[in-house]
Amino acid sequence: MLGFAAMPGSLHVAFAASEVAPFVKTGGLADVASALPRALTALGHRVTVLLPRYGTIALPPGSFAGAVPVPVDGAHRSAGFYVSEQDAVRLVFVDHAEFFDRPFPYGVGNHDYEDNRLRFAFFSRACLEFFRSRGERPDLFHAHDWQTGLLPVYAKALYAHDAVVGRMPVVFTIHNLAYQGNFPSDTLAVLGLPRHLGAPEALEFHGGVGYMKAGLAFSERLTTVSPTYAREIRTPEHGYGLDGVLRARADDLSGILNGVDYDEWDPRVDHFIARRYSAQRPAGKRACKAELLATFGLPAEPDLPLVAVVSRLVHQKGIDLVVGASEDLLRRPLRLVVLGTGEREVQDGFRRLAQRDPARFACRFAYDPVLAHKVEAGADMFLMPSRYEPCGLTQMYSLRYGAVPIVRATGGLRDTVEPWDAARGEGTGFLFAHADGTGLVWALDRALEAWGDARGWRRLMRNGMTRDFSWRRSAEAYETVYRSAIADA
Ligand code: ADP
Ligand code: GLC
Repeated sequence: MLGFAAMPGSLHVAFAASEVAPFVKTGGLADVASALPRALTALGHRVTVLLPRYGTIALPPGSFAGAVPVPVDGAHRSAGFYVSEQDAVRLVFVDHAEFFDRPFPYGVGNHDYEDNRLRFAFFSRACLEFFRSRGERPDLFHAHDWQTGLLPVYAKALYAHDAVVGRMPVVFTIHNLAYQGNFPSDTLAVLGLPRHLGAPEALEFHGGVGYMKAGLAFSERLTTVSPTYAREIRTPEHGYGLDGVLRARADDLSGILNGVDYDEWDPRVDHFIARRYSAQRPAGKRACKAELLATFGLPAEPDLPLVAVVSRLVHQKGIDLVVGASEDLLRRPLRLVVLGTGEREVQDGFRRLAQRDPARFACRFAYDPVLAHKVEAGADMFLMPSRYEPCGLTQMYSLRYGAVPIVRATGGLRDTVEPWDAARGEGTGFLFAHADGTGLVWALDRALEAWGDARGWRRLMRNGMTRDFSWRRSAEAYETVYRSAIADA
């Protein structure tokens, strides 16, 4: 059990998330599901985080806490619970070998597992069953993305009158509206859910069943991870077919910017980098740059700016625009390192670039958390040309590491990077409006121009390094949303 008594006014929040760092991570959701609970406990709340026990997870010390039946598809299934505690957060690993003992959370390469609709229906229901079986009622659930979209449906439709979890308030957070968990129309029947849930105002989506839509329709409050994205997803351009639903729920939808876990992402304390440094004492960054160049096999030329990408190499991130602008890049005085995994064509494009000018372009197609730290620390500029970006964490990391962000003005990028104004010495980075090579190269040229003025550049770096995106403020904003969800339930 948690080692402290609940304080008056404090809440018990149950998080349901399909990835949580450091146990399993494919993107920023894992960082959020790890850091936000800790920020909430720092405000005096209790948090239980539930996640699937994937085969790759090395379990921390803890204990087995029983198993309960979790029917999803007519087969006899049960979930085992393994409970641990870290930084005063209770962690519950939901075990079902057939569903979760696999090498990847969602699928292999670009192919999703075929039984994802069962796997995540099971997980969502198991999260409720954990509490039911213990007779323990949290104050609310905080569910994340389509993988947990059915959780509020189970709470409201199936367990409406349950003594423990009945009418459980749910706050649902959209981390990425493009991934929706849409399944065929027989899904309700397969799951044994009432047919009336197939109505357009419930789970029906383009003739099938949408798990993201379920989360949007059945939760008291909806949030997404930046104010700008909260506006964008109500438009057809960024709404991926759900903009109408989101417009209808506009009063219940808010954008709360993600924070940064500065215990992990700060060059003053980072254990992974060659030398620590800070805004006041930035000298160590030179050693980090030298190490990074060596790691990527590039010659040490400290005066030539080093541009970096750390990203999933997918359409969302606009990384193909960088490849498309190859000819322009080859003509400019810069070096580029890329750390990422994803689409083959993008990788091939970077590989060709690296072959054409191996002294200036290098890439590593891997998922490497330690190298991600070294890249932030060693880079002068950080490139993020996203087509859309719900929040984005890496640009906030790069601000703290003095790797000046060059970003597309969308979503959370717009909310976290302020345009550099050389005359006033204000701003933290460079933004461009259009998701094309011209926009990207235009912004890159502004950055290269600023690089030419050493004093101005130092100021620009310092501005970014001293910005504070710590979780506390966001956690307080979530607390307000939690209380309004509870009042509404
Ligand atoms: P998204 O969740 O859309 O991928 P975010 O910027 O929110 O974007 O979060 C990305 C997270 O994944 C960051 O913590 C980043 O450091 C990490 N990351 C992305 N690609 C890699 C990689 N190839 N190796 C290590 N970490 C990576
Ligand atoms: C998603 C988004 C990213 C966001 C992350 C955490 O993966 O693509 O922009 O930062 O979720 O909320």
